[in-house]
Amino acid sequence: MMPAFTFSPVSFMFHLFPRAVCLGLLLGTGWLAACQSPTNSNQREQDMQTDLPDSAQNPRPQVTSGPWGRTDGLDVRLYTLTNAAGATVKITNYGAAVTHLLVPDRQGQLADVTLGFDSLVGYQSHPHYFGAIVGRYGNRIAKGKASLYGRPLDLAPNNAPNHLHGGRKGFDKVVWQAAEFTTDSTAGLKLTYASRDGEEGYPGNLQTEVTYTWGPGNSLRIDYQATTDQPTVVNLTNHAYFNLSGQLGNPVLEHQLQINAARFLPVDATLIPTGELKPVQGTPFDFTQPRAIGQAIGQTTDEQIKRGGGYDHCWALDGPANTMRLVATAYEPTSGRMLEVLTTEPGLQFYSGNFLNGKIQGKGGIAYPHRAGFCLETQHYPDSPNRPDFPPTSLRPGETYRSTTVYRFSTR
Ligand code: GLA
Repeated sequence: MMPAFTFSPVSFMFHLFPRAVCLGLLLGTGWLAACQSPTNSNQREQDMQTDLPDSAQNPRPQVTSGPWGRTDGLDVRLYTLTNAAGATVKITNYGAAVTHLLVPDRQGQLADVTLGFDSLVGYQSHPHYFGAIVGRYGNRIAKGKASLYGRPLDLAPNNAPNHLHGGRKGFDKVVWQAAEFTTDSTAGLKLTYASRDGEEGYPGNLQTEVTYTWGPGNSLRIDYQATTDQPTVVNLTNHAYFNLSGQLGNPVLEHQLQINAARFLPVDATLIPTGELKPVQGTPFDFTQPRAIGQAIGQTTDEQIKRGGGYDHCWALDGPANTMRLVATAYEPTSGRMLEVLTTEPGLQFYSGNFLNGKIQGKGGIAYPHRAGFCLETQHYPDSPNRPDFPPTSLRPGETYRSTTVYRFSTR
């Protein structure tokens, strides 16, 4: 198992920001404030120059919640997390899914930038993992079979012929326990799920904890943690679909995407990595400089694009895993919205919504067209249990699985 991740907010901040800015921030505010976009920092300076009382300028972050249905004999709720800037994230404890993400454009207009549904039934009846936490093993394991410390792993081939995203009823289709919290600068939700030994074929009772923290600078931090009582495999991620235009009925092809990865993992015809870590240079997979998602997605002369039906691949991220680093940026030119992804994970599955086909009716009755959203799923490489040369995804009793990802929204 990977060594426990130790994150130093201070060194991370110095890595990302000029020294003077960091020192000022260190003196004045918590680390999440360091994630503020330049736009928001300017706004904050302006706010500080007014004579309004503190409470009016910086309302306290808050969490409210309401009932959202019932399933498996358990109550489902919808939680609304609002930060001091008034930007909002909604999360349900069904699938621990992010259902709404309201962030400003460059004019300050809030719009929802994630695909999903208005009610629980949408999440129950549709595949595609909208906004959810996927697990116990996010992504594919070839034919659902592997060997784990000499014991066979035998998982459902729910994405024929492979096992995908935790099986027939993965972590996206179960009810999590939720506990809300706030601090002076953040609103959060801690979700826990006890996956029992044998569930979907996985060995060991797995205690899983996912904490969403919605902070200043419109920064959504996700901390994952898990422990087991028998050797097992774990690879957790979030499957939010983003459309930064806020127009969820439009394709995302104009978004400019950058992925800090010199190599990606080519796949076979069933989307299982061949084992090669191929340089992206000179291929449609080269996102080392910002490039429109749509620019090379139609290059059907490229065998990998053909196999994925577009992008549905894992990139081997640059920089050391277990260290928080900026790994991807997406920018939508008309709204000016920008998304930055930071993670401790070694891989990023960029999925361009290829299976969306206009047949699923989402929020506000919008039928999500082909490529209405894209996913940036931070994770270990697919099929790792069958690849001793990939970073390991096994977890043994006494070890703690830890992973952190930040989705940070700003404008330009
Ligand atoms: C993942 C997979 C895709 C697809 C989507 C859900 O990202 O890699 O192939 O299954 O989930 O539709």
